[in-house]
Amino acid sequence: METGGDKAGSVRAEGFAPSRGVVRSISIAPMLDRTDRHFRFMMRLITRQALFYTEMIAASAVVHGKPDRFLAFNEVERPLAVQFGGDDPASLAAAAAMAEDRGFDEINLNVGCPSDRVQRGRMGACLMLDAARVAAIVDRIRSTVALPVTVKHRIGVDRRDRFEDLCEFVETVADAGADRFTVHARKAWLSGLSPKQNREIPPLRYADVYKLKREFPHLIIEINGGVTTPAAALEHLEAVDAVMIGRAAYDTPCSWFEVDRIFFGEHAPAADVDAIIDAMTEYARAETEKRTPAGFIVRPMLGLWNGRPGARAWRRTLSDSLAAGWEAADAIAAAREARHEAAEASGGSRGV
Ligand SMILES: Cc1cc2nc3c(=O)[nH]c(=O)nc-3n(C[C@H](O)[C@H](O)[C@H](O)COP(=O)(O)O)c2cc1C
Repeated sequence: METGGDKAGSVRAEGFAPSRGVVRSISIAPMLDRTDRHFRFMMRLITRQALFYTEMIAASAVVHGKPDRFLAFNEVERPLAVQFGGDDPASLAAAAAMAEDRGFDEINLNVGCPSDRVQRGRMGACLMLDAARVAAIVDRIRSTVALPVTVKHRIGVDRRDRFEDLCEFVETVADAGADRFTVHARKAWLSGLSPKQNREIPPLRYADVYKLKREFPHLIIEINGGVTTPAAALEHLEAVDAVMIGRAAYDTPCSWFEVDRIFFGEHAPAADVDAIIDAMTEYARAETEKRTPAGFIVRPMLGLWNGRPGARAWRRTLSDSLAAGWEAADAIAAAREARHEAAEASGGSRGV
């Protein structure tokens, strides 16, 4: 596979006014109920360099709730962006200040989620219909923290999905100083489709995102949606500054082993899947001591062998062991053995 080397790695933001910081050319998307701290810890064994995100966190939950619960992370997860949802500039800025104090690297605003619950809170994709409010939020956060402030959005919502509408949105928000635009390359329907359908049914329109970059060459544009291999990710960099990977990172984490080599010219932190399992076993023991439920620790590991011999035995043994109340490290050991036996039986190999 062709390597991107320096060009693909990180784009220094100098010259990309008004951006702050360094832009990572690849990131792992925010995903509710997926990209928790355990998943992020595991993914750091696969890529040291990609930018990671939290799940979406409602700013009000941080400001009026339990910031320590929502904003906890392990230093090894950095560079790490926190993604907030909300529509109130003051509360988003207050949440951003708390995130900055705790060491996050970036503040991201969710303008892409179309769920009913999120819309009721006037968060997410419905904000694409109110660019002035998004601009006010970005402006307020930017004047409160020194971190990069970025926006994740769609190419359009409902009938407001012309390229001109997208440009108008981006221009308004860019004027407020947004440091990067991550564009999920499909529109969202605010009613009639579930969030899952809204990630599948509206067609991907990569050309709109490429054109957006050509229209605003001085802005940092990241593309998202339907990217399933490192090679496909690299191809997008011909047209945009960065690429964000969502479901494919969760479903087949080990197919991203090549990211650091291809994008940054470095080796992956872990040598192979077995090395990840060793590190996760140690992690599981430490988290079990802190009384973290076994299911939380092990769930991100379910997809580790996907696409390789023995994957089903691995998943089934992990799930069964957890259901039987085993500790995380013991469930992992049993699943490792079962996977190995299944792979041997099918003539497959042990490692990567
Ligand atoms: C289970 C799940 C949860 C998601 N949660 C969020 C979220 O909290 N915030 C957000 O901006 N996008 C969220 N998304 C959307 C992803 O970040 C991404 O935009 C989308 O999955 C398209 O990228 P992909 O095709 O690479 O998966 C979620 C997606 C999934 C599958």
